[in-house]
Amino acid sequence: MTWEETILFIREQPEYKDLVALSYLGKDLKSNVERFKASKEFEETVKIIKDFAPNATSILDIGAGNGISSVSFALSGFEVTVIEPDTSVTVGCGAIEILKKDIGLSNLSIINSYGEKLPFGNGLFDIVYARQAMHHAAHLGTFINEAGRVLKPGGLLLTVRDHVIFGDEDRKEFLETHPLQKFYGGENAFTPKQYLSAIMNAGLVVKKHLKYYDSIINYFPVTASEVNNTAKLMKENFRQSMQKRFGSWVVNFPFLQLFELISRIKNGEWTDERRIPGRMNSFIALKGTL
Ligand SMILES: C[S@@+](CC[C@H](N)C(=O)[O-])C[C@H]1O[C@@H](n2cnc3c(N)ncnc32)[C@H](O)[C@@H]1O
Repeated sequence: MTWEETILFIREQPEYKDLVALSYLGKDLKSNVERFKASKEFEETVKIIKDFAPNATSILDIGAGNGISSVSFALSGFEVTVIEPDTSVTVGCGAIEILKKDIGLSNLSIINSYGEKLPFGNGLFDIVYARQAMHHAAHLGTFINEAGRVLKPGGLLLTVRDHVIFGDEDRKEFLETHPLQKFYGGENAFTPKQYLSAIMNAGLVVKKHLKYYDSIINYFPVTASEVNNTAKLMKENFRQSMQKRFGSWVVNFPFLQLFELISRIKNGEWTDERRIPGRMNSFIALKGTL
């Protein structure tokens, strides 16, 4: 199935109702945009833009899909250009055209192309943004080089929610557990090193690498308090399993603390992103400023 066919199919399957809603892939294009624009993720995205590109007016949104971010940026007053290879009215340029017309947006241009082939001159945009798109690049290096090329000097590259893997086994687990991979087979991921090298090789300066638990942009729709609760729950589960295994004496100082420390050294922090298959990361980089 294509990506569009997959989305049309899962929209009709009750077990995918939540996934469709949480991925802003419902039939009602305007409602997808409204929910995304009101989300904590978008709120946090706007904060990053204010911090790293306070005077920005133009945004290139690469791999914009059904337009949730492009239209949200346009409604927030930015001059937005979309690059999207899919032409469909479900998950591609066609959907964004419909939104543009329905809402009456004059500050949104839609171009059917790939991130690896941007039909623009150099140094045109204040911001290049890509949401869940960079990991789909057929040529990661070219994708980032092109993003860097079209950025103005000092411009911001903001790539969000890209799948990260740490090796072959991890990649296998990610692909096996991704809920839609079995339908369309188009998922992909790179290592943090591959993303970071590609960004640096394009002459950009990485300002922040937001790992999964560093930002709600990555872990949304999970909330910050759910993240804290998960950590508490894992700690409690660990305490209980140790008690079960060794008896209640184990809770007495310093044994449990020692076991906890060993477990954290061995398995990572309670909220270690390595525990989440295909965890998403985001990157903030500037063109040519140290
Ligand atoms: C998971 S969707 C994300 C869509 C949208 N950014 C969002 O967050 O809802 C990935 C998008 O990247 C697009 N894409 C795939 N390969 C691409 C490439 N090489 N360059 C630009 N976009 C690409 C797909 O067509 C798709 O719309």
